[in-house]
Amino acid sequence: MLGLLLPSLALASVVSSATTCKCLYNDSCFPTSAEWDAFSKNLSQPVLQDQKPLNAVCFKDSGVYDADACAQVTANVVNPPFLTSKPNCLGFVNLEALVVNDTVQYCPRPFYDGETTCDQGRIPKFLVNATSVDDIQKTLQYATDHNLKLVVRNTGHELMGRSGGSQSLELYVNNFKNIDFDEQFVPEGAPEGTASEYAVTLGAGVQWFEIYAAADAKNRLVPGGFSPDGTVGAAAGWVLGGGHSVLSPFYGLGVDNVLQFTAVLPNGTLATLNKYKNPDLFWAFRGGGGPSFGIVTSTTYRTHENPPITAVFYAAQANGSAAYEQLLTTWMAQHNDIADAGWAGVWPFLANTFYLTFFTPGNPPQNPAANATMDKFFAASRAIPGVTVSLALSKVYPSFQQWNLDNLVNSQYGYGFNWTAGSENTTATSSWLMPRTLTAARNAAQLGRLFANLSVAVPYMVGGGAVAAVGPDETAVTPAWRTSVSDMTVLPGFATGGAAALTVGALDAMYQSAYDQIQPLRALAPPPAGGQYLNEPDMLEENWQAAYWGDAHYARLLAIKKEVDPRDLLIVKKGVNSEGWDDELLCKTT
Ligand SMILES: Cc1cc2nc3c(=O)[nH]c(=O)nc-3n(C[C@H](O)[C@H](O)[C@H](O)COP(=O)(O)OP(=O)(O)OC[C@H]3O[C@@H](n4cnc5c(N)ncnc54)[C@H](O)[C@@H]3O)c2cc1C
Ligand SMILES: *[C@@H]1O[C@H](CO)[C@@H](O)[C@H](O)[C@H]1NC(C)=O
Ligand SMILES: *[C@@H]1O[C@H](CO)[C@@H](O)[C@H](O)[C@H]1NC(C)=O
Ligand SMILES: *[C@@H]1O[C@H](CO)[C@@H](O)[C@H](O)[C@H]1NC(C)=O
Ligand SMILES: *[C@@H]1O[C@H](CO)[C@@H](O)[C@H](O)[C@H]1NC(C)=O
Ligand SMILES: *[C@@H]1O[C@H](CO)[C@@H](O)[C@H](O)[C@H]1NC(C)=O
Ligand SMILES: *[C@@H]1O[C@H](CO)[C@@H](O)[C@H](O)[C@H]1NC(C)=O
Ligand SMILES: *[C@@H]1O[C@H](CO)[C@@H](O)[C@H](O)[C@H]1NC(C)=O
Ligand SMILES: *[C@@H]1O[C@H](CO)[C@@H](O)[C@H](O)[C@H]1NC(C)=O
Ligand SMILES: *[C@@H]1O[C@H](CO)[C@@H](O)[C@H](O)[C@H]1NC(C)=O
Ligand SMILES: *[C@@H]1O[C@H](CO)[C@@H](O)[C@H](O)[C@H]1NC(C)=O
Repeated sequence: MLGLLLPSLALASVVSSATTCKCLYNDSCFPTSAEWDAFSKNLSQPVLQDQKPLNAVCFKDSGVYDADACAQVTANVVNPPFLTSKPNCLGFVNLEALVVNDTVQYCPRPFYDGETTCDQGRIPKFLVNATSVDDIQKTLQYATDHNLKLVVRNTGHELMGRSGGSQSLELYVNNFKNIDFDEQFVPEGAPEGTASEYAVTLGAGVQWFEIYAAADAKNRLVPGGFSPDGTVGAAAGWVLGGGHSVLSPFYGLGVDNVLQFTAVLPNGTLATLNKYKNPDLFWAFRGGGGPSFGIVTSTTYRTHENPPITAVFYAAQANGSAAYEQLLTTWMAQHNDIADAGWAGVWPFLANTFYLTFFTPGNPPQNPAANATMDKFFAASRAIPGVTVSLALSKVYPSFQQWNLDNLVNSQYGYGFNWTAGSENTTATSSWLMPRTLTAARNAAQLGRLFANLSVAVPYMVGGGAVAAVGPDETAVTPAWRTSVSDMTVLPGFATGGAAALTVGALDAMYQSAYDQIQPLRALAPPPAGGQYLNEPDMLEENWQAAYWGDAHYARLLAIKKEVDPRDLLIVKKGVNSEGWDDELLCKTT
């Protein structure tokens, strides 16, 4: 029976190799309902059994059909605050799909006429809704004792579907919402006399919209993610993978701002990780990827002063591919200078249109070169034949939070690229960290030509400055982060859609397109000079160890992983020590 679930690769592998599997739903080893009930007595609330995918409420014979609930899901089908608050879905429905023998098994969302089949797909049937550290410890113990496949879900934003999985038990950690400021925080175990810092400790489930508001109320700032409504998690997957922010050039990556984690290790131990206690694990947690090394229960960040910011918004349309290429070339010729003049932000381009959503700290800008450097680009772009600059606006905000609210939350107050209008039901991503030697002015024409060929690009200028000031080996993230200024991200699923069932062909084409569009950058800047951001992963990346971490960091991560998780309890796709596991992490061939 297990053979049914083996991927063809495993079936084709050499005869002498041995395969071991997790205990799967239909196996005799799998807990009975009575056993789940017994386990439930150990938890703050019972295990949810026979969970269905979110959109099952739209299907007449699902057993949970409910017209009102269906209308609610349909109205919120691409609404991140709604989706991140539900434990039985992922951010994009294609990530819920399981491809079995050329068929796509999933529960279509949105529901559309003619569709009758709602499959479980990659949504777990069993769910622990954790509210205490003890719940997490008991769940790890139970999953270990029963050899269960465990997945960890915070917001479900992860872009490869790592926070879901078929045949698994889901540990839902989004309820940990504590936010505790400490003006004089000193890490546990620090030597006598260690200077204190103004810090904030966040429960694993806190999301950026929550901490941005709480920090601003204290007139402090924590560098965090850029997402519509701020729904990305602030203390878990984002930071475990590195965590980039439009504030990073001024204050560092997420991992550079962590003073301490508390986490439940795979063996159930609740541990404190910082510079002084468990320094190897502290290193691995800062970029090694969630949940490979343990379950974070809280993350302590240093906070920063909260200056006013000077923002610019820009949009330009090209009348054809020649002008578009020249516009992108003109931008690339000034790209590194713009970063060095103190600017950070996002520079999306698609369909012959180029945008900037940028800012620099201070009013007037703290960096005296900021204004003239940006104005120089505006002027140069206006001089390109066939380019129409429709927006070039400078606007001062009293704080980052006001900028965030006006552009990423209540976007009717925003300008230029509309960040809240772009959500889609399906997505594919790929990314590449471009070293500043590649984005140097001398390569502008080459990159302009290459970029003009991308479908939907959302590059983040989040490197340089404070990110570059941190040593390449101080954290586990790829050393490419320390020498890159911009993170090129492509999202080919972003602008597609249509009310039809997902097919293997459509999924493959979307993933292949993401991979292909990044391919020239892989070739121009191979690891470790370039690399992929593991939180913006490519489904098809082959050389993922080197791309996410670089070979040297990967070797160190692998050694730590084998020690802390010898039984492969917390393995995710293309995560540390996932070699030999199939794509669903059900069976391992050694
Ligand atoms: C709209 C959007 C905007 C984004 N913007 C940014 C951005 O500005 N900057 C950036 O760097 N990234 C960004 N990302 C990528 C983001 O960093 C990843 O999606 C990240 O994985 C989200 O983490 P999460 O905790 O919110 O999500 P989840 O999907 O719940 O978790 C992510 C991963 O961490 C694991 N995990 C969850 N909770 C824990 C825990 N408590 N302990 C250990 N492991 C855990 C999960 O198993 C999963 O593998 C964005 C993504 C989206 C969809
Ligand atoms: C488990 O068994 C049920 C009932 O026999 C069957 O419908 C289902 O497809 C099986 N699931 C898997 C994953 O094999
Ligand atoms: C419940 O917790 C106790 C104490 O930790 C443990 O010994 C026992 O095995 C647990 N039972 C189940 C069913 O998880
Ligand atoms: C998938 O295809 C293989 C080979 O054709 C077959 O043996 C197996 O039964 C199929 N599995 C399912 C779940 O249909
Ligand atoms: C999970 O637990 C929290 C806290 O008790 C509760 O508010 C929430 O409704 C629960 N979620 C589910 C899906 O049961
Ligand atoms: C630079 O300063 C001038 C004069 O205040 C202003 O008009 C212009 O918008 C500024 N440019 C940028 C890019 O901020
Ligand atoms: C774009 O505009 C330029 C300048 O007006 C013009 O020379 C060129 O022919 C136009 N190209 C297209 C494709 O319309
Ligand atoms: C962006 O789109 C949202 C949602 O469609 C809309 O409410 C908002 O007004 C738009 N913002 C701008 C500046 O056009
Ligand atoms: C995704 O959602 C949008 C907005 O609700 C809808 O218009 C579109 O048809 C959907 N796409 C698919 C593939 O169903
Ligand atoms: C444009 O991209 C496609 C794939 O997305 C690729 O096949 C083609 O070679 C690219 N062309 C150029 C000029 O880079
Ligand atoms: C749990 O794992 C950690 C890290 O490997 C180790 O230091 C600790 O001694 C282990 N605890 C127990 C009780 O085995």
